[in-house]
Amino acid sequence: MKRLIVVSNRVQPPSEDEPGNQGGLTVALSTVLRESNGIWFGWSGGETESFTGHINFQKSAGVTTATVDLEPQDIQEYYDGFANRTLWPLFHYRVSLAEFERGFVDGYERVNTRFADTLVPLIASDDLVWVHDYHLIPLGQRLRERGVTNRIGFFLHIPWPPMRLMVSLPNHQELVESLFAYDVVGFHTQDWLDSFIDYARAQMDATVGEDGTITWNGRTIRAVVCPIGIDAREFAETANGPAAETMRQAMEQSAGGRAMIVGVDRLDYSKGLQERFIGYERLLSQRQDLHEKVFLLQIAPPSRESVQTYQEIRASLDSLSGRINGEFSSVEWVPLRYVNKGYARDALAGVYRAAKVGLVTPLRDGMNLVAKEFVAAQDPDDPGVLVLSNFAGAAAQMSQAVLVNPYSPDEIADALALALTMPLAERQERWRALMDTVLKEDVMWWLGLFMAALDPAEADEAVEPA
Ligand code: F6P
Repeated sequence: MKRLIVVSNRVQPPSEDEPGNQGGLTVALSTVLRESNGIWFGWSGGETESFTGHINFQKSAGVTTATVDLEPQDIQEYYDGFANRTLWPLFHYRVSLAEFERGFVDGYERVNTRFADTLVPLIASDDLVWVHDYHLIPLGQRLRERGVTNRIGFFLHIPWPPMRLMVSLPNHQELVESLFAYDVVGFHTQDWLDSFIDYARAQMDATVGEDGTITWNGRTIRAVVCPIGIDAREFAETANGPAAETMRQAMEQSAGGRAMIVGVDRLDYSKGLQERFIGYERLLSQRQDLHEKVFLLQIAPPSRESVQTYQEIRASLDSLSGRINGEFSSVEWVPLRYVNKGYARDALAGVYRAAKVGLVTPLRDGMNLVAKEFVAAQDPDDPGVLVLSNFAGAAAQMSQAVLVNPYSPDEIADALALALTMPLAERQERWRALMDTVLKEDVMWWLGLFMAALDPAEADEAVEPA
């Protein structure tokens, strides 16, 4: 097995102390990093006065990480700036929230160059390199310029925007051209890939082969659809484990027989939280009979707090949640429990299991793993219902969820009413179909798909008879 070098902005190795508390990407990559004796390279999350390129190597739960600190200006221009004030809103179809500043582009280029300079000495001739996400789009090109000839793949964890939106980025051409330095470029869904192909055809005059190859300027890349999954078997076990069970019992007790609707999202404008709250408010306005009988638990840990749009969404949700509770609460009933902190994954599994409805309504989302975790955590005998946005990448695989337009408060209210009263047989039928997909198209399946494209020789060998 070839050694794998994973590069991502955040490096989140599995924690030895809290094995139940790993994010999606961590769970996804740790297995293959462990097996291939690989390295996970990226930003430490820390600051240094002046960038030195010093690498901090650590080993955690069998995974080696190599991280660097960044200068405050790098963090402002690259992470807060180009990644999260320009690309994030643009790629989530929110052009009006995107800020186009040359200083951000400079910082983004500088950090990608610094990453490349620091990473090159770590790469051995037979290594596979896998770069993740929108923070690091030009990294492949920077590595090529430094003589790296290894197979290099890139995976985008967020949507790829329609061509007409993409062209509003002043440096769009340069950015997209840099993707042609990779051997493989992966997306979660056919939609995102189609938008990329539209761009490549219309803006670059690229040639698209029937085998998924795209050729431009003498470079051919393979563009693939690989929807990320979760470790569904493990998560289902976690949901049956002691920490989840303790949480489930605590939730049931505090629910006092009321039906719980649950949402769990980073506090981000892409997650459709305002629209979700308004949809729930619509339900409460229309359905007096549900008063005192349901509540929405929205867990929303704050995220990217130095970015103004995130401060604004937080203020808006504070106000909306106050309005809803002010209007509908009684001395004995709080209809909306809005919690701005994160919970360990095993505790969340218990929350999902205690819920009658999982409400996952992003306005746009590359994939959304909460939808998959909600399904994996359910009790097969009495499963909850998933209400899912049509505009989450996960919807392409999860058609048996109750699918909604997340912009429509009426659709959200109708979907909630349907989910809350769905007969057991229908809940079981939908859940079984969803669980089959979540189990089959899990995180190892995702890894296998991408790795087979990144290293076709090894994939061929793996299927050859002994
Ligand atoms: O899924 C997109 C993503 O940016 C991941 O790369 C990241 O781990 C997650 O969202 C959380 O964002 P951040 O690293 O900015 O807190």
